[in-house]
Amino acid sequence: MKVIVEKDYAALSKKAAEIVKEEMLKKKDIVLGLATGSTPLGLYQELIRMHKDEGLDFSEVTTFNLDEYIGIDYDNPNSYHYYMKNNLFKHINIDANNTFVPDANAKDLEDYCKEYDRLIEEKGGIDLQILGIGVNGHIGFNEPDEELNVGTSIVNLTESTIQANSRFFDSIDQVPKKAVTMGIGSIMKAKKILLLASGKSKHEAIKKLIKGDKVTTQLPASLLLLHPDVTVIVDEEAYRG
Ligand code: F6R
Repeated sequence: MKVIVEKDYAALSKKAAEIVKEEMLKKKDIVLGLATGSTPLGLYQELIRMHKDEGLDFSEVTTFNLDEYIGIDYDNPNSYHYYMKNNLFKHINIDANNTFVPDANAKDLEDYCKEYDRLIEEKGGIDLQILGIGVNGHIGFNEPDEELNVGTSIVNLTESTIQANSRFFDSIDQVPKKAVTMGIGSIMKAKKILLLASGKSKHEAIKKLIKGDKVTTQLPASLLLLHPDVTVIVDEEAYRG
């Protein structure tokens, strides 16, 4: 696992965008795995800038998002469909047909989860997966537990995640309790992984992860220690606490 420490969030976002751009230039029809939340916002802004100023081309790119809440409409600003459209997709030349965000409102959701993993395979698998990390060490919405799901699944969010994500909602009661998330296996199949962490609140999880000596389902991100190509970019606050 390669660890890059940047001064602050702006520098972290720039570095992440440079890595994404480098991979995009190597493979025009790259398949990107994308995350939502606060952390990748700076990366997305930088990619939008690169598209506008430098002509970074998304026309052949395919994207798969990690997760979506169950029980909110896609025109709700807290849905990840809405987030992706407004924070990235509508600002770049990506074909909407090549952007996939789990359809948490699908009729038969369990079947749909299997279909999502199948679709990722059909598109050749994820070349570069972007990840954030939860305060509790979750990746996607794979929460600390005795067992973790291998494939895309329906999951219950933990109190810690509901609490952390309540900052985006009017009240904590509005935060969905369930989500669909790519599983640990779906994530680990990505050829290359880029995990970003910013701010003091991520320090504990990052400290355990980069110590690098134990894997445990109680810190889902630690499973990444078994992956051959992971880069972690952190800012000083996440690194030093
Ligand atoms: C989002 C996701 C989550 C977030 C994590 C950190 O798609 O899968 O794992 O990456 O909860 O969220 P932020 O960046 O808001 O601190």
